[in-house]
Amino acid sequence: MIVPFTLNGSTVFIDANSGERLVNILRKRFNLTGTKESCGAGHCGSCTVLMNNKPVPSCIISVFQVRDAEIVTIEEFSKTADYQDIIQGFEQAGAIMCGYCNAGKIFIAQRILEKNMKPARDEIKEMFAGNLCRCTSIENIIAGVKLAGAIRRKRKNVR
Ligand code: FES
Ligand code: FES
Repeated sequence: MIVPFTLNGSTVFIDANSGERLVNILRKRFNLTGTKESCGAGHCGSCTVLMNNKPVPSCIISVFQVRDAEIVTIEEFSKTADYQDIIQGFEQAGAIMCGYCNAGKIFIAQRILEKNMKPARDEIKEMFAGNLCRCTSIENIIAGVKLAGAIRRKRKNVR
């Protein structure tokens, strides 16, 4: 079946099998390998992409759900100033090590910061409940998001 969708700002069409999942479509058909598969069951966040502007685990998104959707991967988001805020915050807090979980960590941080550039600790912790990082602790992640918020406030000239 032919499935049209928007991928990183361009309209694409794929001739898909009914059992295909978004994570494999991205990695195998488009070589977008920044989207990583780990648990394969929606529990760890390493395969996160934006779907219609909302972070979702691409390992549990079927090709049927992809039809006519807008998908943004970490490769596209990494071109933005918002990405730079987050990566700098995480680096300063020691919250980036191997980077395998980056897509989830970065898209969740963005979700938090686009709503509130001064998020509370509990808000960050709750939003990261579905993300697993084997290299760093939740404390490093909380510090990283807070630092990213401070960097963004400075860039946007808001207090
Ligand atoms: S690989 Fe998709 S949530 Fe873990
Ligand atoms: S930085 Fe290595 S798994 Fe998160």
